Amino acid sequence: MKFQAVIFDLDGVICFTDEYHYRAWKAMADGMGIYFDRTINNRLRGVSRMASLEIVLEKYDGPALSQADKERLAAQKNDIYRESLHEMSTADLSDEVKETLDGLRAMGLKLAIGSSSKNTPFILGQIGLAGYFDAVSDGNNITRSKPDPEVFVKAAQMLGIAPERCLVVEDAVSGAEAGHAGGMKVACLGDAAKNGAGDWNMESIRELLDIVKE
Ligand code: BG6
Ligand code: MG
Repeated sequence: MKFQAVIFDLDGVICFTDEYHYRAWKAMADGMGIYFDRTINNRLRGVSRMASLEIVLEKYDGPALSQADKERLAAQKNDIYRESLHEMSTADLSDEVKETLDGLRAMGLKLAIGSSSKNTPFILGQIGLAGYFDAVSDGNNITRSKPDPEVFVKAAQMLGIAPERCLVVEDAVSGAEAGHAGGMKVACLGDAAKNGAGDWNMESIRELLDIVKE
């Protein structure tokens, strides 16, 4: 097999927290009188919390904000987002995703997470995947946000597998760019697939079971 490992983005690939991110940013933006819509939200996919805030603030035209103000706004968004995460359970892990993960593992592939989110450990716990992956690289161990390849390069290093033997799975254009910048092939879902950002642009995550055999 061409690939020895599959590195999954989390939000929008393993579970659908992307809608919760949207609602939390929308609530924060509405509170500040900042225009925010789903088109702007698509630009936040894969992007770290503070880099996302800067994109949201492009539509802000009030008094200058200090770094402390920005941190308060990001914390406000995260508090709203975390409330949604508390509602998540193992029911938020679809059969489609779990069967695909188990199928890939049964084929001998190593499985990792490569997510920009600092909430990754909490989310994995909520959906019953704590301890499931062979490596977890997330927003807590990186200094540069996607499209920088750092999060995927670190995941490959944790696994001890060369980048060209890793397949990245992404729903964000920034994430697909990050995978390619790290020397990896990328299979896309959702928004990134619609934009043709991947080497494969999938309708269902189950397609991975065939892609890794190619
Ligand atoms: C990514 C999401 O997975 O994580 C982004 O696609 C989000 O939308 C980023 O901004 C950071 O998430 P968190 O949970 O650390 O705020
Ligand atoms: Mg994503």
